[in-house]
Amino acid sequence: MSFSEFSLPESLSEWGQKPRIGLVLGSGLGGFVDSLENTVSVGYDDIDRLPVSGGEGHAGKLHVGMLAGEPIAIAQGRVHTYEGWSAREAAATVRLFHQLGAEMVLLTNAAGIVNPDFQPGGWMMLNDHLNLACLSPLAGGSHFVDQTEVYSKALREMLRARADEIGISLHDGVYAWVNGPEYETPAEIRMLRTLGADAVGMSTVPEAIQARALGMHVVALSCLTNYGAGMSGESLDHGEVMDVGKKAVASLHDLLVEVVPEMISQQD
Ligand code: HPA
Repeated sequence: MSFSEFSLPESLSEWGQKPRIGLVLGSGLGGFVDSLENTVSVGYDDIDRLPVSGGEGHAGKLHVGMLAGEPIAIAQGRVHTYEGWSAREAAATVRLFHQLGAEMVLLTNAAGIVNPDFQPGGWMMLNDHLNLACLSPLAGGSHFVDQTEVYSKALREMLRARADEIGISLHDGVYAWVNGPEYETPAEIRMLRTLGADAVGMSTVPEAIQARALGMHVVALSCLTNYGAGMSGESLDHGEVMDVGKKAVASLHDLLVEVVPEMISQQD
């Protein structure tokens, strides 16, 4: 019998389906949960050993249900290293998805724009990342995971084709993971551009590394909520970041109802 890190409440075990894909929703993108049918939801605090964010009303929920006829799992809310959690803890939802039987993860986040050709409200598909937080979910082990293709090329090509068909503009780019929680300085944004980043954010990379270490296929999408510090002459505001995310949920829905069944059939 394989080791199970998390003990699950009965409602989850009784659901009786195996989600093929686990989806993590980033800041402001929680409204996507309404796209699921026949949903079973449990609080993170009902799943033994899953880290729970301290903030009131931010406990986080795991939802399982059907999207376009396929069983999927959604993690609404994540814990971050800037809250004091380790990178391993920040990647716990991915290990939970793996325990539920998922072979693929679709990670979403809110990110600041570093590439001046991008606009707020748009989306970027990650083709690679820079781990500038210099933390790893695999620390403590000696797991020398190959990272030549963290974000699956085959899945990216399929997503790109569907986005073009539906008319959703989707940039391609490199995501820089910084620890936060403060936003960057203008000098840091210029440095990130010099280093080859197109967007910057405080999540996703530990989950992507963890998923690859478990042999899962990864795709990740950044909702571009704001220009990086110093790029627009305006200061950054978390409320605006959340609002832009909420408005972008409709296009995420349109893309994922097309893409999820195809992701599953690509693995069959
Ligand atoms: N920087 C880092 N993380 C972010 C930003 C940003 O500008 N916007 C949303 N998440």
